[in-house]
Amino acid sequence: MEFMRVSVLLVLSLLSPTPILSDSCFSSNGLSEIPKKLLTLAQKPELFDWMVGIRRKIHENPELGYEEFETSKMIRAELDKMGIAYKYPIAVTGVVGSIGTGKPPLVAIRADMDALAMQEMVEWEHKSKIPGKMHSCGHDAHVAMLLGAAKILKEHEKDLQGTIVLVFQPAEEGGCGAKKILDAGVLENVNAIFGLHVANHIPLAEVASRSGPFFAGSGFFEATISGKGGHAALPHHAVDPILAASNVVSSLQHIVSREVDPLDSQVVTVGKVQGGEAFNVIPDSVTIGGTFRAFSMESVLQLKQRIEEVIIGQATVQRCNATVNFFEDEKPLSPPLVNHEELHAYFQNVAGDMLGAHKVKDHPPIMGGEDFAYYQEAIPGFFFFLGMKDERLGYMDSPHSPYFRINEDALPYGAALHASLAVRYLIETQQEVALPKQEIRDEL
Ligand SMILES: *[C@@H]1O[C@H](CO)[C@@H](O)[C@H](O)[C@H]1NC(C)=O
Ligand SMILES: [Zn+2]
Ligand SMILES: [Zn+2]
Repeated sequence: MEFMRVSVLLVLSLLSPTPILSDSCFSSNGLSEIPKKLLTLAQKPELFDWMVGIRRKIHENPELGYEEFETSKMIRAELDKMGIAYKYPIAVTGVVGSIGTGKPPLVAIRADMDALAMQEMVEWEHKSKIPGKMHSCGHDAHVAMLLGAAKILKEHEKDLQGTIVLVFQPAEEGGCGAKKILDAGVLENVNAIFGLHVANHIPLAEVASRSGPFFAGSGFFEATISGKGGHAALPHHAVDPILAASNVVSSLQHIVSREVDPLDSQVVTVGKVQGGEAFNVIPDSVTIGGTFRAFSMESVLQLKQRIEEVIIGQATVQRCNATVNFFEDEKPLSPPLVNHEELHAYFQNVAGDMLGAHKVKDHPPIMGGEDFAYYQEAIPGFFFFLGMKDERLGYMDSPHSPYFRINEDALPYGAALHASLAVRYLIETQQEVALPKQEIRDEL
């Protein structure tokens, strides 16, 4: 408490005559102006062009999870130019920078860096130069926006009332990069973390999110159902794994339809069935694989248990044996992304002050996954969609499409939202500590 009092007064006394965050930043008026001011800064042509340049350069050289060496090098080069200190390597290619006082409170803002293993089909000047790799999830834009925020924040470092941690994370696409960053222990004292994802289905200059469960938790499975091969015309001499696998697939669909509350969204999908080569031969075995998703870890674990029981039990009915693999080493069960309730209200205020309250939309939960969820298991966190849809650009394909495109006009919004969420969080957190003390309010 004593420490916080001192630091509030210290920060007040350090405010320069014309700080961007305004000398009235302790009044509610001053606070509500910060997001708009930061947006104006982010939309300045020099900063906009610089972010676009970075985004295009990364887009031309996409790198897959844990291979983001050049991307990481470029991020570090930019941080060096700005004079921002960072830790590297964190989680192989990750970079964790920091701006501000170096003291609490600490707030983190995060970008993911990895691309996908797919061929870009968009013909444009800055098309991917690496065959079979593409930034089709917008992580190139995420990096540019976080660097844009870093640049603005560094220029106003003296106004910051705590520490802003910049997280450039590897391997979001199925590599659990977020988990590796956490395991490295670099976010231990962080009070809150914010992240965003570009969204082709939401208009430019709008954002959307929700409180509570937002993205599903998920797991993957593969099962081998073994029987005894034989002649197709003599089934009684064989043990048919194809029939067993067919029953397994049907029975798996009964888990969600018969065992789960209809109001609790869950899904089991078998996306892979492999077995047999010939019309007239019963094969020895069949392999099936799939994924399961739910909005609480408890439900994810329940699905996992029932999937195993159903596969083994149903195979037994058909005299087959089954083994089930959940790939827990390579693809651990990923938690659902659950937004912190208070941070949701906080986000609505900050984004509303920047964009107008009517541009801050509620978004229904979605069955996709996002490894930002790992941070939220450890730290109060909030994740939102940043709109890119723009009539002028025509139809915009969804992420993971080879035709995916970024609306670069969204970059300043992303940078300004990152910066605003971080800056105001520090101020409001300091206030929360300071305000209950009547004597301090008097001094203010
Ligand atoms: C199933 O496993 C049991 C015990 O290992 C074995 O005796 C049996 O032959 C197996 N059945 C098939 C169809 O593979
Ligand atoms: Zn993706
Ligand atoms: Zn993504």
